[in-house]
Amino acid sequence: MPRLIKIFDTTLRDGEQSPGASMTSDQKLMLARQLARLNVDVIEAGFAFSSQSDFEALQRIAAEVEGPTICSLARAKPADIDRAWEAIKLAPKRRIHTFLSTSDIHLQHQFRLTRDEALKQSVEMVQKAKGYVEDVEFSPMDATRSDPTYLYEVLTAVIEAGATTLNIPDTVGYTHPHEFGALIRGIRENVIGIQTVVISVHCHNDLGVAVANSLAAVAEGAGQVECTINGIGERAGNASLEEVVMALRVRSQLYDADTGIVTEEIMKTSRLASKTTGLMVQPNKAIVGANAFAHTSGIHQDGLLKDGTTYEIMRPQSVGLGQSKMVMGKLSGRHAFRAHLKDMGYMLSDDELNAAFDRFKHLAGQKKEIFEEDIEAIVSEEVQNLPASYVLKHLRVESGTDLTPKATIELEIDGTPAKHEETGDGPVDAVFRTITKMATTPSTLISYSVKAITGGMDAQGEVTVKIEADGRTVTGNGASTDIIIASAMAYLNALNTLTYWKSKQTHDVSTTV
Ligand code: KIV
Ligand code: ZN
Repeated sequence: MPRLIKIFDTTLRDGEQSPGASMTSDQKLMLARQLARLNVDVIEAGFAFSSQSDFEALQRIAAEVEGPTICSLARAKPADIDRAWEAIKLAPKRRIHTFLSTSDIHLQHQFRLTRDEALKQSVEMVQKAKGYVEDVEFSPMDATRSDPTYLYEVLTAVIEAGATTLNIPDTVGYTHPHEFGALIRGIRENVIGIQTVVISVHCHNDLGVAVANSLAAVAEGAGQVECTINGIGERAGNASLEEVVMALRVRSQLYDADTGIVTEEIMKTSRLASKTTGLMVQPNKAIVGANAFAHTSGIHQDGLLKDGTTYEIMRPQSVGLGQSKMVMGKLSGRHAFRAHLKDMGYMLSDDELNAAFDRFKHLAGQKKEIFEEDIEAIVSEEVQNLPASYVLKHLRVESGTDLTPKATIELEIDGTPAKHEETGDGPVDAVFRTITKMATTPSTLISYSVKAITGGMDAQGEVTVKIEADGRTVTGNGASTDIIIASAMAYLNALNTLTYWKSKQTHDVSTTV
């Protein structure tokens, strides 16, 4: 039996630190449910002290998501530990993850602590966390740029204080596989009590080797890998969950290790994470990129037709690809729709279900076949529960080879009808100019992308926009068989998200880790 490596997903915490990737608490809950279906071992669902919205999302996930351990990050400070406990206490399996740097660079220049002071603070905060939960994780931040002797000393002390997982972060993405493997070996050989705890690793991708570093650590005995869906996270991101998991699945004999991940859920999770954060997946990204299983060379295609193993080291089906299932048609009723959503793992309130069903019926009138991906797009928009400040009532666009594109839009803004028209360089530009003129908050478009959700001429187009307003970047999505309508929906969704964040503005602390 291969060793089972725990997968600690930090998409909702480190992943959310990617610029513009803020998620609403409904989006986080939906993604956490999907992570549970993927069968991750631990969900780091946020940093309770950092903001009221993180706290609320953690509380909801702790109360509602079954299966994985739910974890909150906390600096090694009493108020952070108290807040983390308040946020996770309803979870059947819960963990507090506390951290303090061990590198002299951080201790001298950032924290202004001596080594002795930092060690004492780490021990005290592990003890405090232990007063709340059995399961305590400690991270010596910037471990890879720390003096190993001091690192061993801190790790020995926090084990004695009760830490059950020691996470070794490569905070700045500096280390390399052979060096990181040697560090993990050094920890195993020099830290007293290490055999009683789990060694974890948390690698950043600044030099493009986060996954390789994580795998080198597994080879040296690490029992937990921290990672994110699509590899998102601070700066260049974290080790990508799907890459670590598939490397261990495909080369399980080499590592004598595997994970408990239900790999068939990978694509669905990747799509949901990309949609909710607005961070696109590059086409050539391993495992989840659009080209990851596309073979164009004639020689490869010839081989594949003869035998799949010639050029495929894993089957696309094993990550949930190639399974676009035609699920429902225009005759399907509300009951069947609800049952189907349940099968797909979505639990909707009556209001959400009614709104999603209306959209499904409308779509079924426009599109011959409805696939699971179409339903995912509808559902993920309907469960956001955003304030309905901007509601699209009517949209008319004129465009053509000999016309100046013009959009006429009717909105309801906070319940008051409004109508306006503008011209633009193209139909989408005209729509966006009209909406921005009508909106109460000035905003700037940062990025725009459109992709077909499934194949076929009648596929829905899914539009993602990123806009900047009031110093905040937010994402909006819209899906429709008409991409001009999808574009308008996406912009309005972004404006509604902005209204949501404005209503949540509280005591957010500066906590980039
Ligand atoms: O990168 C890092 O060091 C972190 C820690 C909080 C684990 O995210
Ligand atoms: Zn990190």
